[in-house]
Amino acid sequence: MKYTIAIDGYSACGKSTLAKAMAKRLGYRFIDTGAMYRMITLYFLREKIDITDECAVAGALNGLRVDFVPGSNEALLNEENVETEIRGRAVSEMVSPVATISAVRRWIVPQQREMGKEGGIVMDGRDIGTVVFPDADLKIFVTASMEVRTERRLQEMKDKGIPATREQVAENLVTRDHIDSTREDSPLRQAEDAIVLDNSHLSLEEFIEAGMVLVRGIP
Ligand code: C5P
Repeated sequence: MKYTIAIDGYSACGKSTLAKAMAKRLGYRFIDTGAMYRMITLYFLREKIDITDECAVAGALNGLRVDFVPGSNEALLNEENVETEIRGRAVSEMVSPVATISAVRRWIVPQQREMGKEGGIVMDGRDIGTVVFPDADLKIFVTASMEVRTERRLQEMKDKGIPATREQVAENLVTRDHIDSTREDSPLRQAEDAIVLDNSHLSLEEFIEAGMVLVRGIP
């Protein structure tokens, strides 16, 4: 039996780290849906799309293919590897407004469902357990303290050579969390049947093991 596992939560709380590690252990496909919204945003920025113009947004989506490098999970926008560029400040500051656009969500959600239609997938995002896979076999809602999240995201950006200060990172997380949880279409919220995993005080190994315990407990 190949399960569908949905992982949601606020920005930079460790969702993708958990999803990637669980997918590896289970031999499942891992999909970072945040990367998909980031690719769309990068494309809109490059093409200077006015996101308040519905026609321009619809036209831009027609020229767009978002995918992942097979095997490495790196972001592929119209065949170009954009993994580093989508993690930079310009995209991080624009992605939440872009993700509020219903036309964007209507375009991307069916693609996400298609990726998971045969199960054997760990998908992370904001609306996976509530909208994309409401019937997922396991739903995890990840949380962590603001300090831990800021430190982690800062370190991640440093590792990738992307310049940012602690203040900029913290401000971006607060702003995105606010936009993501108050938008009308598919707001970030914990699904009723999701299990909360707070990893503020867990080592990486303990965090992954806590996720795997939940998988073993699927009835
Ligand atoms: O996961 P990450 O922080 O890379 O996501 C970037 C942004 O994409 C989020 O802040 C949110 O606005 C949007 N997003 C979303 N729905 C998802 C995944 C991400 O709206 N399923």
